[in-house]
Amino acid sequence: MTRNEIISHLKQTPLNQLMRQADRVRQQHVGDDVHIRGIIEFSNYCCRHCLYCGLRKENKDIERYRMQPEEIIHLALDIARQGVKTIVLQSGDDFAYSAKTIASIVREIKQEADVAITLSLGERDFADYESWRKAGADRYLMKHETANPTLYARLHPGKTLKERLSALAFLQELGYEIGLGCMVGLPGQTLEDLAEDILLVHRFQADMAGIGPFLPQKDTPLGGHPPGDLTLTIKVLALVRLISKDIHLPATTATATIDPEHGVIQALKAGANVIMPDFTPQNYSQNYAIYNNKARVTLDLTRRLISKAGRNIGKGKGGSLKCKRPQRD
Ligand code: 5AD
Repeated sequence: MTRNEIISHLKQTPLNQLMRQADRVRQQHVGDDVHIRGIIEFSNYCCRHCLYCGLRKENKDIERYRMQPEEIIHLALDIARQGVKTIVLQSGDDFAYSAKTIASIVREIKQEADVAITLSLGERDFADYESWRKAGADRYLMKHETANPTLYARLHPGKTLKERLSALAFLQELGYEIGLGCMVGLPGQTLEDLAEDILLVHRFQADMAGIGPFLPQKDTPLGGHPPGDLTLTIKVLALVRLISKDIHLPATTATATIDPEHGVIQALKAGANVIMPDFTPQNYSQNYAIYNNKARVTLDLTRRLISKAGRNIGKGKGGSLKCKRPQRD
Protein backbone atom coordinates (compact mmCIF):
# COMPACT_ATOMS: atom_id res chain seq x y z
CA MET A 1 0.00 0.00 0.00
CA THR A 2 1.36 3.43 -0.87
CA ARG A 3 1.39 6.46 1.41
CA ASN A 4 -1.43 8.04 -0.59
CA GLU A 5 -3.56 4.91 -0.43
CA ILE A 6 -3.12 4.81 3.34
CA ILE A 7 -4.09 8.47 3.66
CA SER A 8 -7.16 7.90 1.54
CA HIS A 9 -8.21 4.92 3.75
CA LEU A 10 -7.75 7.04 6.87
CA LYS A 11 -9.85 9.78 5.32
CA GLN A 12 -12.69 7.96 3.67
CA THR A 13 -12.83 4.20 4.07
CA PRO A 14 -15.58 3.34 6.56
CA LEU A 15 -14.27 1.98 9.86
CA ASN A 16 -16.32 -1.22 9.55
CA GLN A 17 -14.79 -2.07 6.21
CA LEU A 18 -11.20 -1.65 7.46
CA MET A 19 -12.03 -3.64 10.59
CA ARG A 20 -13.48 -6.51 8.57
CA GLN A 21 -10.42 -6.72 6.32
CA ALA A 22 -7.97 -6.42 9.21
CA ASP A 23 -9.83 -9.10 11.16
CA ARG A 24 -9.52 -11.49 8.22
CA VAL A 25 -5.78 -10.83 7.84
CA ARG A 26 -5.32 -11.24 11.59
CA GLN A 27 -7.12 -14.58 11.50
CA GLN A 28 -5.06 -15.84 8.56
CA HIS A 29 -1.64 -14.68 9.76
CA VAL A 30 -1.68 -14.84 13.56
CA GLY A 31 -4.78 -16.91 14.33
CA ASP A 32 -7.36 -16.59 17.10
CA ASP A 33 -5.02 -16.55 20.11
CA VAL A 34 -4.79 -13.38 22.15
CA HIS A 35 -1.48 -13.22 24.01
CA ILE A 36 -1.41 -11.84 27.53
CA ARG A 37 1.60 -9.81 28.67
CA GLY A 38 1.76 -8.89 32.34
CA ILE A 39 3.11 -5.40 33.00
CA ILE A 40 5.02 -4.22 36.05
CA GLU A 41 5.46 -0.44 36.08
CA PHE A 42 8.26 -0.53 38.59
CA SER A 43 9.33 3.15 38.69
CA ASN A 44 7.69 6.41 37.68
CA TYR A 45 10.88 8.46 37.91
CA CYS A 46 11.89 9.89 34.54
CA CYS A 47 14.71 12.15 33.44
CA ARG A 48 12.96 13.22 30.19
CA HIS A 49 10.75 16.16 29.35
CA CYS A 50 8.18 14.71 26.90
CA LEU A 51 5.46 17.32 26.52
CA TYR A 52 2.57 14.82 26.65
CA CYS A 53 3.63 12.58 29.52
CA GLY A 54 2.73 12.96 33.18
CA LEU A 55 5.97 11.24 34.24
CA ARG A 56 8.07 14.08 32.77
CA LYS A 57 10.74 15.31 35.11
CA GLU A 58 9.13 18.73 35.50
CA ASN A 59 5.89 17.29 36.89
CA LYS A 60 5.95 17.93 40.64
CA ASP A 61 2.30 16.90 41.08
CA ILE A 62 2.79 13.15 41.22
CA GLU A 63 4.31 11.13 44.01
CA ARG A 64 7.35 9.28 42.72
CA TYR A 65 8.08 5.65 43.59
CA ARG A 66 10.69 3.00 42.91
CA MET A 67 10.11 -0.68 43.54
CA GLN A 68 13.02 -2.60 45.02
CA PRO A 69 14.59 -5.33 42.87
CA GLU A 70 13.38 -8.07 45.26
CA GLU A 71 9.85 -6.68 45.08
CA ILE A 72 9.96 -6.67 41.27
CA ILE A 73 11.27 -10.24 41.10
CA HIS A 74 8.73 -11.47 43.64
CA LEU A 75 5.86 -9.89 41.70
CA ALA A 76 7.15 -11.24 38.36
CA LEU A 77 7.23 -14.78 39.75
CA ASP A 78 3.75 -14.32 41.15
CA ILE A 79 2.50 -13.24 37.71
CA ALA A 80 4.19 -16.28 36.14
CA ARG A 81 2.40 -18.54 38.63
CA GLN A 82 -0.90 -17.14 37.37
CA GLY A 83 -0.05 -18.58 33.95
CA VAL A 84 1.13 -15.40 32.24
CA LYS A 85 4.04 -16.21 29.95
CA THR A 86 5.41 -12.73 29.21
CA ILE A 87 6.51 -10.23 31.84
CA VAL A 88 6.94 -6.61 30.75
CA LEU A 89 9.21 -4.55 32.98
CA GLN A 90 8.40 -0.90 32.35
CA SER A 91 9.52 2.39 33.91
CA GLY A 92 10.27 5.98 33.13
CA ASP A 93 13.80 6.66 31.89
CA ASP A 94 15.20 6.05 35.37
CA PHE A 95 18.98 5.80 35.61
CA ALA A 96 18.83 5.07 39.35
CA TYR A 97 18.60 1.42 38.32
CA SER A 98 22.08 0.56 37.06
CA ALA A 99 22.51 -1.69 34.06
CA LYS A 100 23.78 -4.31 36.49
CA THR A 101 20.71 -4.12 38.71
CA ILE A 102 18.36 -4.55 35.74
CA ALA A 103 20.48 -7.42 34.41
CA SER A 104 20.31 -9.21 37.75
CA ILE A 105 16.52 -8.76 37.92
CA VAL A 106 16.20 -10.25 34.42
CA ARG A 107 18.55 -13.12 35.24
CA GLU A 108 16.73 -14.09 38.41
CA ILE A 109 13.29 -14.05 36.83
CA LYS A 110 14.51 -16.13 33.87
CA GLN A 111 16.14 -18.61 36.25
CA GLU A 112 12.99 -19.14 38.27
CA ALA A 113 10.24 -18.98 35.66
CA ASP A 114 9.67 -20.07 32.07
CA VAL A 115 8.67 -16.65 30.75
CA ALA A 116 9.68 -14.19 28.07
CA ILE A 117 10.88 -10.85 29.38
CA THR A 118 10.11 -7.59 27.64
CA LEU A 119 11.99 -4.50 28.76
CA SER A 120 10.46 -1.06 28.28
CA LEU A 121 12.90 1.25 30.00
CA GLY A 122 13.39 3.97 27.41
CA GLU A 123 16.67 5.12 25.95
CA ARG A 124 19.83 3.88 27.66
CA ASP A 125 23.48 3.36 26.74
CA PHE A 126 23.86 0.78 24.01
CA ALA A 127 26.11 -1.24 26.35
CA ASP A 128 23.17 -1.53 28.76
CA TYR A 129 20.92 -3.04 26.09
CA GLU A 130 23.69 -5.52 25.38
CA SER A 131 24.12 -6.59 28.99
CA TRP A 132 20.37 -7.09 29.43
CA ARG A 133 20.18 -9.19 26.30
CA LYS A 134 23.02 -11.34 27.67
CA ALA A 135 21.13 -11.62 30.94
CA GLY A 136 18.23 -13.16 29.00
CA ALA A 137 15.88 -10.32 28.06
CA ASP A 138 13.90 -11.32 24.96
CA ARG A 139 12.11 -8.22 23.77
CA TYR A 140 12.36 -4.45 23.94
CA LEU A 141 9.42 -2.12 23.65
CA MET A 142 10.17 1.46 22.74
CA LYS A 143 7.50 3.26 20.79
CA HIS A 144 8.71 5.66 18.12
CA GLU A 145 5.77 7.91 19.20
CA THR A 146 5.64 9.80 15.86
CA ALA A 147 7.44 9.29 12.56
CA ASN A 148 7.45 13.03 11.86
CA PRO A 149 10.96 14.17 12.87
CA THR A 150 9.92 17.81 13.40
CA LEU A 151 6.96 16.88 15.57
CA TYR A 152 9.14 14.34 17.41
CA ALA A 153 11.72 17.01 18.25
CA ARG A 154 9.03 19.41 19.42
CA LEU A 155 7.43 16.83 21.73
CA HIS A 156 10.73 15.49 23.11
CA PRO A 157 12.96 18.41 24.09
CA GLY A 158 16.61 17.53 23.56
CA LYS A 159 15.86 14.27 21.73
CA THR A 160 15.59 13.26 18.07
CA LEU A 161 13.70 10.64 16.09
CA LYS A 162 17.00 9.62 14.54
CA GLU A 163 18.46 8.69 17.94
CA ARG A 164 15.34 6.74 18.79
CA LEU A 165 15.46 4.77 15.55
CA SER A 166 19.20 4.04 15.88
CA ALA A 167 18.54 2.63 19.34
CA LEU A 168 15.76 0.45 17.93
CA ALA A 169 17.95 -0.76 15.07
CA PHE A 170 20.70 -1.64 17.54
CA LEU A 171 18.26 -3.54 19.75
CA GLN A 172 17.13 -5.49 16.71
CA GLU A 173 20.75 -6.32 15.84
CA LEU A 174 21.26 -7.65 19.35
CA GLY A 175 18.46 -10.14 18.66
CA TYR A 176 15.71 -8.51 20.68
CA GLU A 177 12.22 -8.75 19.28
CA ILE A 178 11.28 -5.10 19.07
CA GLY A 179 8.12 -3.12 19.56
CA LEU A 180 7.49 0.26 17.96
CA GLY A 181 4.32 2.29 18.06
CA CYS A 182 2.80 5.71 17.97
CA MET A 183 0.17 7.93 19.47
CA VAL A 184 -2.82 8.97 17.36
CA GLY A 185 -4.20 12.49 17.60
CA LEU A 186 -1.12 14.28 18.90
CA PRO A 187 -1.46 18.06 18.69
CA GLY A 188 -0.05 19.07 15.30
CA GLN A 189 -0.13 15.54 13.84
CA THR A 190 -1.56 15.06 10.33
CA LEU A 191 -2.97 12.07 8.45
CA GLU A 192 0.23 12.16 6.37
CA ASP A 193 2.19 11.70 9.60
CA LEU A 194 0.04 8.72 10.56
CA ALA A 195 0.63 7.15 7.15
CA GLU A 196 4.37 7.49 7.83
CA ASP A 197 3.90 5.85 11.23
CA ILE A 198 2.23 2.87 9.59
CA LEU A 199 4.95 2.62 6.93
CA LEU A 200 7.74 2.97 9.48
CA VAL A 201 6.44 0.03 11.52
CA HIS A 202 6.48 -2.02 8.32
CA ARG A 203 9.91 -0.86 7.13
CA PHE A 204 11.40 -1.71 10.50
CA GLN A 205 9.91 -5.19 10.41
CA ALA A 206 8.81 -4.58 13.97
CA ASP A 207 7.67 -7.65 15.88
CA MET A 208 5.09 -5.59 17.68
CA ALA A 209 3.47 -2.16 17.52
CA GLY A 210 1.53 -0.34 20.21
CA ILE A 211 -1.02 2.03 18.73
CA GLY A 212 -2.96 4.23 21.13
CA PRO A 213 -4.75 7.57 21.21
CA PHE A 214 -3.03 10.64 22.63
CA LEU A 215 -4.64 11.40 25.98
CA PRO A 216 -4.13 14.74 27.72
CA GLN A 217 -2.51 14.69 31.16
CA LYS A 218 -3.51 17.77 33.15
CA ASP A 219 -0.08 18.54 34.61
CA THR A 220 1.70 18.61 31.24
CA PRO A 221 2.08 21.37 28.62
CA LEU A 222 -0.38 19.45 26.39
CA GLY A 223 -2.96 19.03 29.15
CA GLY A 224 -5.45 21.36 27.47
CA HIS A 225 -5.53 19.54 24.11
CA PRO A 226 -8.36 17.20 23.10
CA PRO A 227 -7.77 13.43 23.18
CA GLY A 228 -7.13 11.42 20.02
CA ASP A 229 -10.16 10.03 18.25
CA LEU A 230 -11.03 6.36 18.94
CA THR A 231 -12.23 5.72 15.37
CA LEU A 232 -9.05 7.12 13.86
CA THR A 233 -6.96 5.08 16.32
CA ILE A 234 -8.77 1.86 15.36
CA LYS A 235 -8.30 2.71 11.66
CA VAL A 236 -4.54 3.11 12.18
CA LEU A 237 -4.48 -0.21 14.05
CA ALA A 238 -6.38 -1.95 11.24
CA LEU A 239 -4.04 -0.53 8.59
CA VAL A 240 -0.96 -1.69 10.51
CA ARG A 241 -2.48 -5.19 10.53
CA LEU A 242 -3.28 -5.01 6.81
CA ILE A 243 0.28 -3.98 5.93
CA SER A 244 2.45 -5.70 8.57
CA LYS A 245 0.43 -8.90 8.47
CA ASP A 246 2.16 -11.11 11.03
CA ILE A 247 2.94 -8.42 13.62
CA HIS A 248 1.77 -8.53 17.25
CA LEU A 249 -0.71 -5.74 18.00
CA PRO A 250 -1.94 -4.97 21.49
CA ALA A 251 -5.30 -3.48 22.32
CA THR A 252 -3.60 -0.73 24.32
CA THR A 253 -4.42 0.59 27.76
CA ALA A 254 -4.84 4.06 26.23
CA THR A 255 -7.60 2.61 24.01
CA ALA A 256 -9.15 0.99 27.09
CA THR A 257 -9.00 4.37 28.84
CA ILE A 258 -11.22 5.96 26.19
CA ASP A 259 -13.70 3.08 26.53
CA PRO A 260 -12.74 0.04 28.67
CA GLU A 261 -15.07 -2.53 27.08
CA HIS A 262 -15.97 -1.20 23.67
CA GLY A 263 -12.46 0.17 22.94
CA VAL A 264 -10.72 -3.13 23.67
CA ILE A 265 -13.32 -5.26 21.87
CA GLN A 266 -13.15 -2.97 18.85
CA ALA A 267 -9.34 -3.21 18.82
CA LEU A 268 -9.56 -7.03 19.01
CA LYS A 269 -11.92 -6.94 16.03
CA ALA A 270 -9.64 -4.61 14.09
CA GLY A 271 -6.48 -6.70 14.09
CA ALA A 272 -5.27 -6.68 17.70
CA ASN A 273 -4.03 -9.99 19.16
CA VAL A 274 -2.40 -8.95 22.45
CA ILE A 275 -3.61 -7.48 25.76
CA MET A 276 -1.26 -6.19 28.44
CA PRO A 277 -2.89 -6.28 31.89
CA ASP A 278 -1.35 -4.24 34.67
CA PHE A 279 -0.01 -6.04 37.74
CA THR A 280 1.59 -3.02 39.40
CA PRO A 281 0.45 -2.80 43.04
CA GLN A 282 -2.29 -0.19 43.10
CA ASN A 283 -0.63 2.11 45.65
CA TYR A 284 2.12 2.57 43.07
CA SER A 285 0.13 2.42 39.84
CA GLN A 286 -2.12 5.30 40.86
CA ASN A 287 1.03 7.41 40.48
CA TYR A 288 2.01 5.96 37.09
CA ALA A 289 0.10 8.88 35.64
CA ILE A 290 1.32 9.02 32.03
CA TYR A 291 -2.18 10.34 31.25
CA ASN A 292 -5.33 11.02 33.32
CA ASN A 293 -7.89 8.36 34.31
CA LYS A 294 -5.67 5.53 33.07
CA ALA A 295 -7.83 2.40 32.88
CA ARG A 296 -6.92 -0.49 35.17
CA VAL A 297 -6.77 -3.49 32.84
CA THR A 298 -6.69 -6.48 35.18
CA LEU A 299 -6.06 -10.14 34.32
CA ASP A 300 -9.73 -10.91 35.04
CA LEU A 301 -10.97 -8.15 32.73
CA THR A 302 -8.49 -9.32 30.07
CA ARG A 303 -9.80 -12.89 30.20
CA ARG A 304 -13.40 -11.69 30.10
CA LEU A 305 -12.82 -9.45 27.09
CA ILE A 306 -10.96 -12.16 25.17
CA SER A 307 -13.86 -14.51 25.67
CA LYS A 308 -16.42 -11.81 24.86
CA ALA A 309 -14.62 -11.21 21.56
CA GLY A 310 -14.90 -14.94 20.82
CA ARG A 311 -11.16 -15.53 20.93
CA ASN A 312 -8.76 -17.87 22.75
CA ILE A 313 -6.18 -17.09 25.40
CA GLY A 314 -2.69 -17.72 23.96
CA LYS A 315 -1.01 -20.55 25.88
CA GLY A 316 2.64 -20.02 24.92
CA LYS A 317 4.96 -17.05 25.19
CA GLY A 318 3.54 -15.58 22.00
CA GLY A 319 6.93 -14.81 20.48
CA SER A 320 7.57 -13.11 17.18
CA LEU A 321 5.76 -14.55 14.19
CA LYS A 322 8.02 -12.81 11.68
CA CYS A 323 9.04 -15.28 9.01
CA LYS A 324 12.64 -14.10 9.23
CA ARG A 325 13.00 -15.22 12.85
CA PRO A 326 12.87 -18.71 14.34
CA GLN A 327 9.96 -19.36 16.70
CA ARG A 328 11.08 -19.31 20.26
CA ASP A 329 8.39 -21.24 22.05
N1 5AD B 1 -1.22 9.92 25.89
C1 5AD B 1 -1.09 8.71 25.32
N2 5AD B 1 -0.03 7.93 25.47
C2 5AD B 1 0.95 8.39 26.26
N3 5AD B 1 2.11 7.86 26.58
C3 5AD B 1 2.74 8.70 27.40
N4 5AD B 1 2.01 9.79 27.60
C4 5AD B 1 0.89 9.64 26.89
C5 5AD B 1 -0.26 10.41 26.70
N5 5AD B 1 -0.39 11.61 27.26
C6 5AD B 1 2.55 6.60 26.04
C7 5AD B 1 3.69 6.82 25.10
C8 5AD B 1 4.85 6.11 25.77
C9 5AD B 1 4.18 5.19 26.77
C10 5AD B 1 4.98 4.98 27.98
O1 5AD B 1 2.99 5.82 27.10
O2 5AD B 1 3.42 6.24 23.84
O3 5AD B 1 5.60 5.34 24.89
